[in-house]
Amino acid sequence: MVDLRTEVPHPARVYDYLLGGKDNFAADRAAAEQGRRSNPASDVAPGANRDWLRRVVTYLTREQGIGQFLDVGTGLPTSPNVHEVAQGIDPGARIVYIDHDPIVLAHARALLTSNPAGATNYLDADFRDPARILASAKETLDFDRPVALLLVAIAHFVGDADEPHRIVRELVDALPSGSYLALSHLTGDFLPEQWKKVEAIYAARGVTMQVRPKAEIERFFDGLELVDPGLTLVHRWRPDERDRFADRSDELVSVYGAVARKP
Ligand SMILES: C[S@@+](CC[C@H](N)C(=O)[O-])C[C@H]1O[C@@H](n2cnc3c(N)ncnc32)[C@H](O)[C@@H]1O
Repeated sequence: MVDLRTEVPHPARVYDYLLGGKDNFAADRAAAEQGRRSNPASDVAPGANRDWLRRVVTYLTREQGIGQFLDVGTGLPTSPNVHEVAQGIDPGARIVYIDHDPIVLAHARALLTSNPAGATNYLDADFRDPARILASAKETLDFDRPVALLLVAIAHFVGDADEPHRIVRELVDALPSGSYLALSHLTGDFLPEQWKKVEAIYAARGVTMQVRPKAEIERFFDGLELVDPGLTLVHRWRPDERDRFADRSDELVSVYGAVARKP
């Protein structure tokens, strides 16, 4: 029996609640509502981030011909999931999903409904163990061909003590030339006091959250070639006609994102 620890908020379930999902518990909803009262961006950032993810996977599959995705910190299934977007364009796309939260594991079946021409896999693993992630990903993905590494709204749950920049470097180093890194990250650049309050709400419940300034987020892409328009607020990154957040203010979005190619 998996212990879902329903008495403490989990980032995956708080995010699910803020996106309008149903896979959350009272402690998650209480933390989300407290965050909402402290910070107006709490409502907009999750949806804007999710829309960005859809546009990024569409761009990588359609415009760059990427057919393999390693999605670390995938979260609770939220349609359209990465495999639905990628396989909608390239039915042969292969996706490995990774998360460390038992609630995501409990729902992983919904992440495994692959188009028969492609493949999906789910691994219960921690971002802070890149060697294990890489060894398992290689069972589904061909590391002789380009892979897109998706680190979407996960790195702000990893404090400096765990050296997230080093971990990203280790993951990227293992990818072949022509691979991509897509990473989004909460920032306190626009509403510093409000994000401090949200960090404190998580910290009081034993969960690390660390928003970072733009320069520190940019460092995740060191040695890589940023795709146009570079590191931007996610709603300003190649908005399309389906985007619901293009007219929002920067402070309400408060999530930076970029896509970069490994030379
Ligand atoms: C805000 S959700 C983002 C979900 C999805 N990537 C998206 O952007 O829509 C963050 C996810 O990262 C996961 N996560 C946080 N720290 C992690 C770690 N150290 N290892 C694996 N997953 C982690 C959480 O469980 C959660 O599902």
